[in-house]
Formats: sequence, C-alpha cells, structure tokens
Amino acid sequence: MAPSSDLRLVRQRLAAARNITVLTGAGISADSGVPTFRGADGLWRQHRAEDLATPDAFARDPKLVWEWYNWRRELIATKQPNAAHRAIVELERRAPAFWLATQNVDGLHRDAGSQKLSEIHGNIWKVRCTGCQAVSENRDVPISILPFCPHCGALLRPHIVWFGESLFAADLQQCSTVLKSCDLLLVIGTSGVVYPAAGFASVAKEAGAYVVEINLDPTPQSSLVDVSLQGRAKDLVPLLLDPT
Ligand code: OAD
Repeated sequence: MAPSSDLRLVRQRLAAARNITVLTGAGISADSGVPTFRGADGLWRQHRAEDLATPDAFARDPKLVWEWYNWRRELIATKQPNAAHRAIVELERRAPAFWLATQNVDGLHRDAGSQKLSEIHGNIWKVRCTGCQAVSENRDVPISILPFCPHCGALLRPHIVWFGESLFAADLQQCSTVLKSCDLLLVIGTSGVVYPAAGFASVAKEAGAYVVEINLDPTPQSSLVDVSLQGRAKDLVPLLLDPT
C-alpha cells in the first residue's frame, strides 16, 4: 500500500489543481474483472494482443480476430464500473478543467458517467465499415461472424485503433492540448509500453505538470513521475478524493 505521506501530498495537489488530466489503462478495469493485456490472464488461445490487434492479422484471418473480440465482448458485457471509475467521474465534476484519456475500449468509463473523455484506442461496442468507413454502435453479444455493412455490404471491423495504426486525429489533438495545459496528470493502471500513451507522462512533465502514477507494480514511467503510488486502482483512486 502507498505510504500515507505520499497519499496526503497527492490529495493536497489534487484538491488545489485547476486543470486535471487522467490517463487510464487496463489496470483500472482489472478491478471490474476485465483481464489486462500483459497480465497472467492476457492470452487468448495462446495469442497475444499484439498478434491479433493489427490490420495484418485482420486481413489474414478476420474470423479469428472477430472471434477474439467476441470473446472480449461477452466478457465485458457482464462487467460493471468500479470505485475507481466512479471516483474519476467525481474528479471531473469537481475540477474546473478536466479531461480523461483512456486506452480502454470497454466503455466502462462512459458507463460510470464520464463525459469529458477520449477513448483513444476506440470502443469495443462500435464497428466500422472497411468499405464506406461508416461507424456505428453495435452491442450484439455475440456479434455475427463475419459481420457485414448494412449499407454497402463490405466487411465490418472493430472501431479500434490497432498496432501500426495512428490514433484518430481529433483525439491526438485533444490529448496534446490537455497534456500541455494540465497542472496535474494522473496515470492509472497502464504498463506504459504502448505509444503514444506511454509518452503522455513525459509530455505533461515537460510542460510543467505534477505527475502521479497509480499502479500495482513499477513501470517504465515510475522514475520520471513525481509520485508513484503502488496499489489497486479501486482502493487508491477513491482515497485521493477523500478530504480526511
Ligand atoms: P497492460 O495490460 O499492458 O497493463 C496493465 C497495467 O495495469 C499493468 O502495469 C499492471 O501492473 C496494472 N494493473 C493491473 N491491475 C491493476 C489494478 N487493480 N490497479 C492498478 N493497476 C493495475 O494494459 P495497457 O497499459 O492498458 O491496445 O495496454 C495498453 C494497450 O496495449 C491496450 O490499450 C491495448 C494493448 O494491447 C490495443 O488493444 C490496441
């Protein structure tokens, strides 16, 4: 558990901050029962995310990739936001300026009530046509394999940013703006190895923000942040809002 002096310090910084940015990764949803990517339960049928979440994998075997997403859809559909997701909604309500960038595609931040957010890796409940590029919501569980576009008949893909693809331009722009203008960045539950999100802490730090990391374990970013709190997101994030 994080030392109480660190917790006190972060609480004070957070209460005084006028402009807060939060970056989250799979660790925050681990407390809701969604497996992380690089944890012990991160493999699916012996495949790593990096082998399936790519345009090449989809071109080679779209059925396999959709089966993986169907497995994730079935799992996520049963999960609820936890105390850490809810505490972030409360932070959004309290802070004069606030933005949340999440790498998670599970939609749990939205379910909790977050409104000022960018889902920088997309959303598992959205599909995009590989032909006409139309994006639509699709909450089918399971989704039919293979799904086709009702407008043009081309194959649908998950509306997710895969390895080798760029973030959506609007999200990149928004993240760049909030990282450079925030006075406090909270980085929660991400291994800090997938770019560009892995570089967010150093961008904010260079722009003068106070940077706090919350993770079960040390990460490549731990040495550059101001405070690294070790523990579960669902325990630590609500504690940071506690006035006592
Ligand atoms: P990872 O699976 O790489 O890392 C999860 C992080 O959460 C690790 O550092 C864990 O130590 C930490 N963690 C686990 N349980 C926690 C808990 N209860 N409280 C706090 N921390 C906890 O997930 P991401 O960093 O999100 O991309 O991965 C980044 C991207 O790589 C994902 O968005 C995904 C993946 O492949 C795509 O699918 C495109």
